Amino acid sequence: AMEQEDAIRQELGSLHGIPLYKSFIEGWPQVKAFQARPDDLLISTYPKSGTTWLSEIMDMIYHNGDVEKCRRDAIYNRVPFLELKVSKSLCGVDQLENTPSPRLVKTHLPVQLLPTSFWEKDCKIIYMARNPKDVVISYYYFHQMAKIHHDPGTKAEFLENFMAGKVPYGSWYDHVRGWWEKKREKKILYLFYEDMKKDPRQEVQKILQFLGKELSERTVESILHHTSFQEMKKNPAANYETMLPTLMDHSISPFLRKGISGDWKNHFTVAQNERFDQHYQELMAGSDLCFQMEL
Ligand code: A3P
Repeated sequence: AMEQEDAIRQELGSLHGIPLYKSFIEGWPQVKAFQARPDDLLISTYPKSGTTWLSEIMDMIYHNGDVEKCRRDAIYNRVPFLELKVSKSLCGVDQLENTPSPRLVKTHLPVQLLPTSFWEKDCKIIYMARNPKDVVISYYYFHQMAKIHHDPGTKAEFLENFMAGKVPYGSWYDHVRGWWEKKREKKILYLFYEDMKKDPRQEVQKILQFLGKELSERTVESILHHTSFQEMKKNPAANYETMLPTLMDHSISPFLRKGISGDWKNHFTVAQNERFDQHYQELMAGSDLCFQMEL
């Protein structure tokens, strides 16, 4: 418990210019030297973009829709978090080294910081992006409940910091664009949270095709049911409620908070929205990357 005290309410450090938790930066040499295996599948996202949702879907696919097998452990252990470093015992790289293949690996790293071994081994990668307005609201509540973060301040202040990239993992704009560009040359399936909300069956089919895997209609049906927001919210293996209370306080805001597209409309003022849109246009100019801000 003493070790974890060091990991709560941290100031951010800087990893090659990217704001990140200091305890993660301390663990960086081990992450940088990480040895990927050719059959690793990497789940890459900017925080709050549906990582846990995609992780549960992937674990279900890997276990042919066997719900019981997917209850074997909490999602953060079934899909270890590569750069996680909270204490000696809570370390993603150590956890991954003890995970049998084929492994599912979670990361939030911007593309330029991904350990080179993933490229050398030509690992499959699935990236999931979510519209920035919902991301920033989700991130704001996450800062309050996940105690690795310092106080996010007011919503208005947090919005400014997000737009300026002064949040853990830095600029959302650079993150989504960086991974989008990489898709031209590498095996990356680029998905959107909003598409998954709109037509999860179609997105699961895209994943299966990417994996070169076939599942029966019944199995796909069971995966869709098990990974719905309502099911995941009540599943202790998926909802993070088994995390140490010193690290997350679900009474402040549950990890599975709302799970919708367009919740930002309940939070942004008209002026904030106009400012955000203008800034978005400037930073996303020249990109063919498109986001649905609501459904
Ligand atoms: P909200 O805070 O908007 O509710 P991550 O896993 O990357 O941290 O993302 C967390 C966000 O994904 C949260 O968004 C959470 O509710 C949402 N989420 C998790 N599981 C989901 C599901 N099955 N369906 C829809 N959204 C889900």
